[in-house]
Amino acid sequence: MDFVARSARILSAYIGDELPPESVLARVTAAFEFPAPVVPVAKDIAALELFHGPTMAFKDFGGRFMAKMLTEVGQGQPVTILTATSGDTGAAVAHAFYGLKNVRVVILYPEGKISPLQEKLFCTLGGNIHTVAVEGDFDACQALVKQAFDDEELKQTLGLNSANSINISRLLAQICYYFEAVEQLPQQARNQLVVSVPSGNFGDLTAGLLAKTLGLPVKRFIAATNANDTVPRFLRDGKWLPNPTVATLSNAMDVSQPNNWPRVEELFRRKNWPLTTLDYGCVDDNTTAETMREMAGLGYISEPHAAIAYRLLRDSLQPGEYGLFLGTAHPAKFKESVDSILGQSLPLPPALAVRATLPLLSERMPASFSALRTLMLWLAP
Ligand SMILES: Cc1ncc(COP(=O)(O)O)c(C=O)c1O
Repeated sequence: MDFVARSARILSAYIGDELPPESVLARVTAAFEFPAPVVPVAKDIAALELFHGPTMAFKDFGGRFMAKMLTEVGQGQPVTILTATSGDTGAAVAHAFYGLKNVRVVILYPEGKISPLQEKLFCTLGGNIHTVAVEGDFDACQALVKQAFDDEELKQTLGLNSANSINISRLLAQICYYFEAVEQLPQQARNQLVVSVPSGNFGDLTAGLLAKTLGLPVKRFIAATNANDTVPRFLRDGKWLPNPTVATLSNAMDVSQPNNWPRVEELFRRKNWPLTTLDYGCVDDNTTAETMREMAGLGYISEPHAAIAYRLLRDSLQPGEYGLFLGTAHPAKFKESVDSILGQSLPLPPALAVRATLPLLSERMPASFSALRTLMLWLAP
């Protein structure tokens, strides 16, 4: 089956008879309009490139699928989508929902902690897209979103919904590209497959594990983080001790209290998988930069998030195994750091170039729930 037909089949298995399969197929066809190619990078290692969609990050799969489904099941009821972003979700969600009738989108992001081009991509749209630069880190933004969902008045008045990976529809969409990757691999690579996932909030890894519950042959996953290493330390020492979030080159993974971790634990508990199914590691900024240079030497230009996943994969791959790492964003989204690390100037793809010179339309807000509440009620119709 091709990517779209197979994805619709997988999603229908979850959606059951709540929506007819033809309707799921139509939505998936409209959402997944771009490929997810597997590209060889080194001996026995390939990248699954997930950045060929309109906002050049893997979030386009989940954001667009969610938007198409919501318009189907929402029956025109007014809805407010509230989302926190560490850089890429915001753009995918903003572009997927831009201009939709009866949908208002509020996106919170940590001020000064996302790349300038990430910010331009979603904070220059206006219309039904409201962007808010929060004086705090991503964990603070995510905590505000959770508080909003505990506020009955806000939920009722605004018809609140989330486009974060709290929302299972996003993760369901992400399951599909793991199958697409395996389909592109030769049979012998499928027998001993190791998948390395650059992780922040652990949604992408959760989607990979869900794919495994459906029978996808993955020998082990690697949970790859930057210096925000709550999960690797937990897997090593058995203690959940989040440190304050630190800023790194891979800013979209600057998360120290990942929302999806309880899902990962629950899947392991229910499936009784051995702990060796989940390898882990963290990579600091110096090693990330060194790895990007090494990859460029192999003829592959990468960005900091994918480079972390590649690094841990190449360090742990055993003879006979085949490694796949997720290319979660286009290198040009991180042009400033990629250019300075590689000593070259990346061309800007058209989707970024058209937004790069537009003025930012964001509001600013302290990391306080009362400030968010006031803003949201002011935006109410
Ligand atoms: C480029 C990039 N890589 C990796 C991640 C981490 O994904 P997750 O939060 O699902 O672990 C993100 C998430 O924001 C991202 O934007």
